[in-house]
Amino acid sequence: MGIQISPSILSADFANLAAECERVAGAADWLHVDVMDNHFVPNLTLGLPVVERLLAAVSTPVDCHLMIEDPDRWAPAYAEAGAASVTFHVEAAAAPIRLARALRSAGSRAGMALKPATPVEPYADLLPELDMLLIMTVEPGFGGQKFLDVVVPKIRRARELIKGRDLDVWLQVDGGVSAQTIEICAEAGADVFVAGNSVYGAADPAEAIRKLNELASNATASSWWCH
Ligand code: DX5
Ligand code: ZN
Repeated sequence: MGIQISPSILSADFANLAAECERVAGAADWLHVDVMDNHFVPNLTLGLPVVERLLAAVSTPVDCHLMIEDPDRWAPAYAEAGAASVTFHVEAAAAPIRLARALRSAGSRAGMALKPATPVEPYADLLPELDMLLIMTVEPGFGGQKFLDVVVPKIRRARELIKGRDLDVWLQVDGGVSAQTIEICAEAGADVFVAGNSVYGAADPAEAIRKLNELASNATASSWWCH
């Protein structure tokens, strides 16, 4: 798999979600849907009923990022509903291996997310259970925050762990990803890029996605990790 861009609809107009998804159709590889419960993060967005309606309305695969407490209990329903990728936060999961297996057996890709201060090394042995590792490059909860450069070395170490084990685990970054920051992430080892403000804040969101993809592809081609 090459570079993939997953625009976050958190920055879209929630009163016109289907139309907002249509604006990126064809250009976006995924639709990134941020589920927040006002407990794991200090913000509240949407839940399963809205995701179910979105899944019925759009053809782009849905990438659910669950910023919720007790994902062991709630996450499998998103996979059962038809989300092609479901990501839970390891900080909130009681049994991440069991949960990743439950997501896969419900038919979705299994993703695990790390907040900026959560180290990746303790989870090295879990990587074969995952289809994607999400490294947050802002504190989760809100769109439009500034990219945290301090996380870049962790992106590189995560890619080293994946490469060292010869695994096909996608490495996603989320938070403050823009034309100014995407190349740093791609060079460090990310290959799936969430972008909210830099896509939906642009006059032409589909064009913004194509530009981000081009920047990331070029940066990856000359990076340490893709050879
Ligand atoms: C933040 C969310 C992100 C957010 C990214 O907690 O997980 O997906 O929408 O938005 P930007 O790209 O604007 O930082
Ligand atoms: Zn997100």
